[in-house]
Amino acid sequence: MPHAIEYDRIGGPEVLEYREIAHALPGRGEVLVEVRAVGVNPIEWKIRSGKRASPPLNGPRRVGTDAAGIIVAVGEGLDGWAIGDEVIVSGASGAYATELVVAASKLTRKPSELGWEEAAAIPIPVGTAHQAVMSLGVDADDTFLLHGGSGAVGQSAIQLARRLGATVVATASEANHERLRELGAIPVAYGPGLADRVRAVAPEGIDVALDAAGTDEAIAVSKELVSDHRRVATIVQGARAAELGVRAWGGGNPVPLTPEEAALRADAVPFAAALAAGGEFQLEIARRYPLAEAAEAQRQSETGHVRGKIILIP
Ligand SMILES: NC(=O)c1ccc[n+]([C@@H]2O[C@H](COP(=O)([O-])OP(=O)(O)OC[C@H]3O[C@@H](n4cnc5c(N)ncnc54)[C@H](OP(=O)(O)O)[C@@H]3O)[C@@H](O)[C@H]2O)c1
Repeated sequence: MPHAIEYDRIGGPEVLEYREIAHALPGRGEVLVEVRAVGVNPIEWKIRSGKRASPPLNGPRRVGTDAAGIIVAVGEGLDGWAIGDEVIVSGASGAYATELVVAASKLTRKPSELGWEEAAAIPIPVGTAHQAVMSLGVDADDTFLLHGGSGAVGQSAIQLARRLGATVVATASEANHERLRELGAIPVAYGPGLADRVRAVAPEGIDVALDAAGTDEAIAVSKELVSDHRRVATIVQGARAAELGVRAWGGGNPVPLTPEEAALRADAVPFAAALAAGGEFQLEIARRYPLAEAAEAQRQSETGHVRGKIILIP
């Protein structure tokens, strides 16, 4: 029987339960995917814990949006997808599962050279990084300050900005500085004195900044160093964007993404999958957990100091 992670009440990781679920068949325009790997994103523990508001729970809630797997059944009226196709799933409802019914619109073909775990690591982090970098208009003339460079979004944003020719200065704890250098960024430690450390490595100044860390420091230093505040954005503190006077996408922002911004996120999935399959884009896997240990995986994510991506294996 298929299994999935569900919870019935807002709370700590212990509310996550590994349960048997009913075997579902794909409807019109849908497929059934046997899941091989699931990407764990911080938004999942934020909603589970109540840190991010969500609708009242009137029954079991499934978890997760990002996965990779094999199509094992195809619903009616669907051309172009067949049993055996390897796919990346974006924006699913309940990806923490052994199998998943999804609309074909949520599928991207997985290149055969790309591993399951790397494929599942793409949708939210790379989509967000690509959209933010593009929406900020990062280009070859820019020196780009990125807060939270060693996380899943951060590592993607460094690589995407470097591909556009930008100079990237990225913050991380000291232990992760070598990783940032490997990706082409100039590392700086976050914490008191950050603005001076950034000035020391970027004497020509900072043109554009992105907060993927969610700290007051990230916003304050970005606003201090970037003269045009339309080129300062956060993906974490969206709920406070208006008060902070910066741009924001998601992160609790009451203003939804524009269709163009949503399209940038969607386009990033096949783009990054092709690059990664060709060895031109790295998706670092931090840790793997069995699906049944999703609570432990979220506990780890909640520490806020994961370098790369946490993956669940059904
Ligand atoms: N708005 C959106 O649509 C959207 C989409 C995706 C993610 N997000 C949000 O963006 C954030 C990052 O997501 P993620 O998936 O990349 O998370 P993640 O993989 O868990 O990365 C967290 C990173 O934050 C770094 N960090 C912790 N404290 C920091 C500080 N004070 N200053 C700078 N960096 C610090 C850590 O680096 P060290 O270990 O080196 O300390 C770690 O690498 C999360 O809050 C997430 O919810 C928003």
